[in-house]
Amino acid sequence: MNKSEIPAAQKAALSLLLDDHKKVKKIFKDFEKEKDSGAKQKMVEEACTELTIHTKIEEEKFYPYLRDQNPEAFGDLLDEALVEHASAKELIAQLQGMGPDDDLYDAKFTVLGEYVNHHVTEEEDELFPKVISKKIDLKELAQEMESLKQELASTAVAA
Ligand SMILES: [Fe+2]
Ligand SMILES: [Fe+2]
Repeated sequence: MNKSEIPAAQKAALSLLLDDHKKVKKIFKDFEKEKDSGAKQKMVEEACTELTIHTKIEEEKFYPYLRDQNPEAFGDLLDEALVEHASAKELIAQLQGMGPDDDLYDAKFTVLGEYVNHHVTEEEDELFPKVISKKIDLKELAQEMESLKQELASTAVAA
């Protein structure tokens, strides 16, 4: 999805989410090229932190707002999204309890990347276009999403 095509009412909120998607997709891509470089664990940790923050913003702000605005249009898509988030969180928790030399560490991260790619494609190809076609006004929500993001990012760094 191209940011320049997003109307003003949805631009800030969807851009925030699109930037996150781009960032994590790049980490998964880099991992496939650089997993033997010694930077592996750092990449896994960064992706897991980013994904944890991102799913929280969606689950606490974005998804409930859409459901509230139009349950008929968004209910089924959001239910699926929550199930997909749950699978990703399960793998994230497993990875965070493992070390880079453990069996299946690379495989779990690769599979997490496949889940994320699938989920991101559904959001960008189905959910976000629907948000735009239903003209959901996300201007105020975008500010809440942005401040939650900053709050979560600062505690992630402190941890
Ligand atoms: Fe999501
Ligand atoms: Fe997302």
